[in-house]
Amino acid sequence: MSRRPLLAGNWKMYLTSGEAVRLAQAIAAISREHTDRDVMVAPSFTSLAAVAAELRNSAVLLGAQNVAWEQEGAYTGEISPRMLTDLGVRMAIIGHSERRHIFGEDNVMVNQRLLAALDAGLVPVLCIGETLDERQAEATFKVLETQLCEGLENVPPARAEQVVLAYEPVWAIGTGKTATPQQAQEVHHFLRQLLAGLYDKKIAETVRVLYGGSVKPDNIDELMAQPDIDGALVGGAALNPDSFARIVHFT
Ligand code: 13P
Repeated sequence: MSRRPLLAGNWKMYLTSGEAVRLAQAIAAISREHTDRDVMVAPSFTSLAAVAAELRNSAVLLGAQNVAWEQEGAYTGEISPRMLTDLGVRMAIIGHSERRHIFGEDNVMVNQRLLAALDAGLVPVLCIGETLDERQAEATFKVLETQLCEGLENVPPARAEQVVLAYEPVWAIGTGKTATPQQAQEVHHFLRQLLAGLYDKKIAETVRVLYGGSVKPDNIDELMAQPDIDGALVGGAALNPDSFARIVHFT
């Protein structure tokens, strides 16, 4: 089964609204050169409305960097799925390692956010990944299994196939140290086996699994050549239109 590649830019806390709109404009032009792949950008919440307007006639998908687990309520500082879909947001990054490690989000919160996103019709991009200590202690597979199983708890099969997974080894994020394509492939294959066990083989073959962590123009082709790598979740290199263009144009 062939999965449609997804090249996603996580703009983190970098751009003002004006800067985000300019980058979105460049990326809309880049994405027009391809009909066989999806492109997604995830600006800060403050830029979503302006970027949504810029992308109105574009196939570029709009994503949020997080999402609350309730549609409304007394949750100061949170943004609900309903507020996001209202702006035209289609996807939501959930469980990014910066949320987990800097802001203390655990698998239960991640699962609640994911369920609420699915309820609202958002495609969740569930991020999982081990730290350097965990990899060195040979706990990588155990950690990933827990993050995946707890993150997908109570997600029925019909919805599971809409979920996008992103494997982002924490030691590779923003460090310039990419997992080798072989290391990433080994994990992606393992995740697909877990999905087959949790659901079935068809769902395991349908779910897109992205790699994230120091993805750059010079390593994208080799990563995308791996059979179980279906795309990339890109941080630093997504902020520059030329480097993100090269990533979108992977061969
Ligand atoms: P870098 O590409 O900057 O390593 O960031 C990866 C990431 O965290 C994407 O979500």
